[in-house]
Amino acid sequence: MVLCLPAVLMAEKFEGLAPTPPMGWNSWNTFGTKIDENLIKETAEAMIKNGMQEAGYKYIVLDDGWEAMQRDANGNIMPDPQKFPSGLKVLGDFLHEKGFKFGIHNCAGTKTCAGFPGGRGHEFQDARSYASWGVDYIKYDWCNHGTANGEETFKTMRDALYAAGRPIVLSICEWGNTKPWEWGKDVGHLWRTTGDITDCYDCQEVYSMGWKYILESQVGLEKYAGPDHWNDPDMLEVGNPGLTLAESRAHFSLWCMLAAPLMAGNDVRNMSDEVREILTNKEVIAIDQDTLGKQGYRYMEHPGKQIWAKELSNNCWAVCFFNDSAEAVKLRINWSNLPFLKGDYEIRDLWQKKDIGSTGLTTNGTTGKTFEAELPSHDVIVVRLTPAKKDKP
Ligand code: GLA
Repeated sequence: MVLCLPAVLMAEKFEGLAPTPPMGWNSWNTFGTKIDENLIKETAEAMIKNGMQEAGYKYIVLDDGWEAMQRDANGNIMPDPQKFPSGLKVLGDFLHEKGFKFGIHNCAGTKTCAGFPGGRGHEFQDARSYASWGVDYIKYDWCNHGTANGEETFKTMRDALYAAGRPIVLSICEWGNTKPWEWGKDVGHLWRTTGDITDCYDCQEVYSMGWKYILESQVGLEKYAGPDHWNDPDMLEVGNPGLTLAESRAHFSLWCMLAAPLMAGNDVRNMSDEVREILTNKEVIAIDQDTLGKQGYRYMEHPGKQIWAKELSNNCWAVCFFNDSAEAVKLRINWSNLPFLKGDYEIRDLWQKKDIGSTGLTTNGTTGKTFEAELPSHDVIVVRLTPAKKDKP
């Protein structure tokens, strides 16, 4: 007897699509719903020229506003014919030819947050459309969901994507409402942990907040993340007008310490060299993309002197000193005060791009050298510690 089970009965998420946190660019933070195919093509070309593609940014994601206001007569979701006259299959082909992957946004509710058609009741049909357009990544949102249950709703979309047969990363965007870190691992590849980010340091608005505020709420979530299942503290505001350069650098560094998805959210066609250098600092990106896949954690919180630590592969560590105060501070810390470090390490400063000596730590970690530095307000120092060739006795 041959047993024919419909694919959906065996539904699961596509495994192995996000062994390290996804990297790319998303239209929302800068462009809102004002997106069209020219913007997307120009962005792709710019990311090739400015080194972002080479640095690892591979998903180009259309956020809210790509849809026509109405589904077609057969209930198919359609792109806005004015914004995307060539259609999304053609756009997907363009992105693939340029070496990118194609991402899209829609919503588990009846309408997206910006009022375009949502996916509720159309999940399997929409998943087939996305697969036919060559979509590789979907950010699935949570507006207008009525009384629907989060976990069940996102499972439906997971099953729909699986049934459509094309491996597509599922980015769960339910804002941390029902603790998706507790159920998201079997459902998607990443899940938002908070409401929306906006381009300020620590402001709090009704529906959005600055990155410093988001950072605070990531403490304790580190145990839930790992390869193929990441906490998502929202997309990057690096380079956007509400942040100083130091705040952009600190935001980027801390998102890397958090093993966060790195979705640039600025206009990458027009950015300063300083912003480009932040977004393409390969040594800092390597902290985020480290294959051990461990999210970093806050080791110490002292006004002006936060210390974040992230365990890396090959017994290396990343340590980030973050000055959250309004004044510059003088750091003075003996490496022996960081008990997770044992034995001597070479120290590399990843923003200065310089080797800066060693920790001088003994094998048991009780005695070591002292690290001293000036740390400007809202800025960071990020170091990679690599075990020294020979431990000192
Ligand atoms: C929600 C999401 C945002 C963005 C908007 C689009 O607010 O959290 O990231 O996708 O919807 O309307």
